[in-house]
Amino acid sequence: MSAILVEPESIKLEQPSLPHADPCVVVIFGATGDLTKRKLMPALCRLLGEGCLESVRIVGVGRSDMPDDAFQAFVHDALKNSKKIEQLDEQEWREFAKRLHYMHGELDDEETYRKIAARLDELAAEGASKNHLFYLATPPSLAPVIVKNLGKANLANEDGHWSRIVVEKPFGRDLDSAKALNATIAEVFKESQVYRIDHYLGKDTVQNILVFRFGNSMFEPIWNRNYVDYVEITATEAAGIGSRAGYYEESGALRDMVANHLLQLLTLTAMEPPVAFDADSVREEKVQVLRSIRRMKPDQVARRTVRAQYGSGESDGEKVKAYKEEEGVKKESVTETYAAVKFYISNWRWSGVPFYVRTGKHLSRSLTEVAIHLKRTPQALFARTPDDQIDPNVIALRIQPNEGITVMFAAKRPGFDMRTNTVHMDFCYQSAFGVQSPDAYEMLLLDVMRGDATLFIRSDEAEAQWRLITPIEEAWASQGLKELPVYEAGTDGPAEADAMLARYGHRWRRLDESKAGCD
Ligand code: BG6
Repeated sequence: MSAILVEPESIKLEQPSLPHADPCVVVIFGATGDLTKRKLMPALCRLLGEGCLESVRIVGVGRSDMPDDAFQAFVHDALKNSKKIEQLDEQEWREFAKRLHYMHGELDDEETYRKIAARLDELAAEGASKNHLFYLATPPSLAPVIVKNLGKANLANEDGHWSRIVVEKPFGRDLDSAKALNATIAEVFKESQVYRIDHYLGKDTVQNILVFRFGNSMFEPIWNRNYVDYVEITATEAAGIGSRAGYYEESGALRDMVANHLLQLLTLTAMEPPVAFDADSVREEKVQVLRSIRRMKPDQVARRTVRAQYGSGESDGEKVKAYKEEEGVKKESVTETYAAVKFYISNWRWSGVPFYVRTGKHLSRSLTEVAIHLKRTPQALFARTPDDQIDPNVIALRIQPNEGITVMFAAKRPGFDMRTNTVHMDFCYQSAFGVQSPDAYEMLLLDVMRGDATLFIRSDEAEAQWRLITPIEEAWASQGLKELPVYEAGTDGPAEADAMLARYGHRWRRLDESKAGCD
């Protein structure tokens, strides 16, 4: 194996400078929750540090009663503990703290929203912007009541300013609830005001799938059923469920990861070129992919899906207990911590090509990757390495970690005989550009504040995702299993998932296979 890497010096970049956000007030519902602490505050603080948030104020809304300075102390703590912030600059923190306000109130009480409206008026009188961004960092069950109350308090109106709402995944838990949520939102907000967030779309490497495909002329001609044997989309994690048992028991791997992040990776990999890189054109093509996937019937679900749960084992060098032993998990739980699904996209480009997706907690490695497996060559030419021993070409798009792209192909081994080996041609983000990509939440928050919805999920897209996932959930429920297959924590997943691919002569890449190149 060899690495071939040619990168002109001139490609080395300064840290990318980001654009300015529109002036606005960001109102965060769920201000003391996990998402606010781990993702939103670090992202907002970094954006401020990068000079993007000149006239932005932040109002946290939560149930606990505390003054502004206690909220500021809470945020300070969150930033200190954030992996996204290497060192909190005290000057920068003081700037950030000045913009932080807090209000307490029950989210199902109309009075809370009247108070929010009054507070926003006060801030405007003090010179803050009248543009409002409402961020729902709350459990999904609260989304309808917050949306309705925002409407009643006239906070969705856009007279001379903008009002936008960000809704976190999951958008409902099945097709019916997603439709109901969309309908509730549509009663209050126009679709152009709504930003359904899937943070995978904020990752540079995910956006690069489109650049790789449509910014180059050499890959697109082979990107179809004539050349591609199968596509493998992986998003595995070495970590477990952490302290999220309550959420995870209700969700499981299929709803948590496949219904959104993995289907998004699939649509970007499979979509037709959009007529332009704008919200409508891109989202239209993505929806077309989802519409081209047939809903599975129960017998197809039995053949084309695998679910499993982690047992005890070792992960990230630490002993790990079985999922059922985790605090907050029912002893008889049949919630899957691993899911693999084989999808077919029934359109002209992809007919007959399996798209395998897999995800799981407590696996051997954290890895997100799209691997395009090309067909074998049609003729055995090199007797010393028979054709069936030459590995077919693979194009691996590594989303994280070791962000980059590897193309695998056969090369002649040095020597007299015509023998071949698989070699790797690697592109590594880090060594090619020399800078870190901005965090996904930073990018997406900035997009909302600038009114660009290209990287957000449209209402019909959210429903199209559930249209595929709900039949699987229903078929699984009707199987009435008392126990799920178990995989040892710290491995690559259950044997059943290997068997599903082996039936079609395919195989998953080992999770350590993609290490090559960018480590
Ligand atoms: C979240 C899921 O949406 O994505 C989590 O709810 C998962 O269960 C996370 O851990 C993975 O995100 P990332 O960016 O770390 O790959």
